[in-house]
Amino acid sequence: MVETAVNKGAPFLGRRVVVGVTGGIAAYKAAELVRLLVREAAEVLVAMTENATRFVSPLTFEALSGHRVIRSMWEADGTGIEHIAWGQEADLILVAPATANIIGKAACGIADDFLSTMLLAATAKILLCPSMNTRMFENPVLQENLSRLLQRGLSVLMPGAGALACRTEGRGRLPEPEDILEEARRLLTPQDLEGRKVLVTAGATREPIDPVRYVSNRSSGKMGYALARAARQRGAAVVLVSGATALKPPVGVEVVGVGTALDMRQAVFSRLVGCDMVIKAAAVSDYRPKTAAPQKVKKGAEELNLEMVKNPDILKELGMSKGDGGPLLVGFAAETEALLEHAREKLRSKNLDMIVANDVSAADAGFQTDTNRVKMLFRDGRVEESGLLSKDAVAHLVLDRAMEILTRRRAEA
Ligand code: C5P
Repeated sequence: MVETAVNKGAPFLGRRVVVGVTGGIAAYKAAELVRLLVREAAEVLVAMTENATRFVSPLTFEALSGHRVIRSMWEADGTGIEHIAWGQEADLILVAPATANIIGKAACGIADDFLSTMLLAATAKILLCPSMNTRMFENPVLQENLSRLLQRGLSVLMPGAGALACRTEGRGRLPEPEDILEEARRLLTPQDLEGRKVLVTAGATREPIDPVRYVSNRSSGKMGYALARAARQRGAAVVLVSGATALKPPVGVEVVGVGTALDMRQAVFSRLVGCDMVIKAAAVSDYRPKTAAPQKVKKGAEELNLEMVKNPDILKELGMSKGDGGPLLVGFAAETEALLEHAREKLRSKNLDMIVANDVSAADAGFQTDTNRVKMLFRDGRVEESGLLSKDAVAHLVLDRAMEILTRRRAEA
């Protein structure tokens, strides 16, 4: 498959995923997993063990996937090779939940039903999602089996801790379907940022007026979060310095929550060591109230004047202080007029390697939306337009261009 930013932003599009469901109580979560995969345009085939059908009916998976579910070697389509074909034609096999039994069978090469036989013959990538009682999970036999499978190149998404169906607390919960999906995205994405450290800022800063009020802006944080997720999917170690957002923290990313621009500055500078790239997608308040009132400001006077002072420009400081070997700097410019002129000026005055300009007055781009349309400006004067894309695809496009600059720089050094 040709790897474009659009494909990287939609890694399941046109991909075949086999979901193996085994007999644990978390089998009901596999139904949601299949629904999410289908929603992301994957072709999904489901194989169930006989025990899994005691928990959820195959009919549920047939309705969700739009394909016949296979649970036995003897009910295939007559060709007799589906256990071979499924595992070789798939892009990914997800076993969720994976019981101690299927893990043991896979580790020892036992093939006594359709799913275990398919796993043995598979050439596709395999992701196992163990889910079971804590004692079973911690049993050295199970752990040895998992280590063996990891050594052989299979991937394992470790279970979470929490309340279990057996009315105990501990390790063994199947991760939420969204988190399994995120791990699957990573497995389907080329790891071209492996070994790289990327720092992303996102969201709006909040500058307090008093203990209950603040000055802020309409940034949702979606673009910065998409960048952090995309960099992690491509193998980078990611630090996300996040102002206020309503978004769920991305899995596998170190999230540092901040309030004001001054907090953000401190967080960025203290985590800069070893960074290959800094992408500043945060909407930082340019000004802050000179003093924050210690108590709630009371209603009274007809007019209230707020005295504001300038915040430090974090990106400009980074640009001015970076020497030859400093991290690659990518800025964002949100504008409502004269987009290119303003962006060009920021690229120059902040000493950036690249700036991503978006017109935040458009309805389908900029703040709050899931789509974006950006212009990327480079130091050599080039301007590249993205067209209307999902924010995930824009994130991959920005990373593609940033990686090209880094690679060129390394070749010239
Ligand atoms: O505010 P301005 O339009 O100049 O923002 C452009 C870029 O500079 C953005 O990438 C933003 O995150 C960054 N910035 C910053 N510190 C500020 C203001 C903006 O790092 N105080």
